[in-house]
Amino acid sequence: DTLITLAKQMPKTELHLHIEGTFEPEQMFAIAQRNKVELTYQTVEALKAAYQFNNLQDFLDLYYQGMSVLLHEVDFYDLTMAYLEKVNDENVVHVEIFFDPQGHTERGVPFDTQIKGIYRALQDAEKKWGMTTRLIMSFLRHLSEESAFETLAAAKPYLDWIDGIGLDSSELGHPPEKFLRVFQACKDLGLKVTAHAGEEGPPEYVWQAIEQIHVDRIDHGNRALEDEKLVETIRQKNLTLTVCPLSNLKLCVVNDMTHHPIKRMLALGLNATVNSDDPAYFGGYMNDNYSALIKGTGINKAELYQLAQNGITGSWMNKEQQQNHL
Ligand code: ADE
Ligand code: ZN
Repeated sequence: DTLITLAKQMPKTELHLHIEGTFEPEQMFAIAQRNKVELTYQTVEALKAAYQFNNLQDFLDLYYQGMSVLLHEVDFYDLTMAYLEKVNDENVVHVEIFFDPQGHTERGVPFDTQIKGIYRALQDAEKKWGMTTRLIMSFLRHLSEESAFETLAAAKPYLDWIDGIGLDSSELGHPPEKFLRVFQACKDLGLKVTAHAGEEGPPEYVWQAIEQIHVDRIDHGNRALEDEKLVETIRQKNLTLTVCPLSNLKLCVVNDMTHHPIKRMLALGLNATVNSDDPAYFGGYMNDNYSALIKGTGINKAELYQLAQNGITGSWMNKEQQQNHL
């Protein structure tokens, strides 16, 4: 199909990617072995067979288990570099990646170990391929706001390396307003902010992300479509939605790719983008996400270009860098 070829060849950005969600089973077992830690699953095949999720929490349980083998700076470097090599081969020219520091500090891995490994890989990708990168530190919303404040304190020496702050993990029961004060502190430091909202959570959580957290972007945002006034607000504020098609399918946010709302989002004038979220768990990286959309929803060439362009204008590159990509 020519549209799929086009999608593969065009320069792309990725704005919603959890680096811990790029942990392929093969690499997970290799790092587990060198760190002499045990995994719950005995083989790569057994682990992969467990990748069947009924909801977000099913996935998160395995996601936190998987990342628990990451102990040393080199582990974070290797994980990040493996991802960057893959997407460089897919003509991804700009990435904005999340990391979940509390997923590691909670297990005794210091903040600086994590960020040094991740950041060094980002720097190497910039030098080697001219890729541009941003790093987004994400707070785990199932933990307390106090824990988020502690994480922000640990990040203080590294703020030059951090471009923005995110909010992820179990959405239901953990509305954005729970983190009002810590996000205000982040804004005061000049950081960009985004939040997962409307993936499983109701439109009300998207409202809170916009009106209380004052997000610069919305991660997912699917359920915003249930509220006409919210759609209008997102459009008026020109907010970008970082949509993740294969993730939506695997986590049962949509029951079939033919029902994916991305065409509707575009038709409503929303700045939807295509992203891979946790590609090692959801069955595909950037090109697979575009292919799945093309096959499932029948997006046309104009829509394909619009999605790619939204990925540039919705990124946290400066205007001049964006212009160079348009
Ligand atoms: N952490 C990693 N992937 C996530 C997702 N899709 N939603 C919420 N938290 C996450
Ligand atoms: Zn996500």
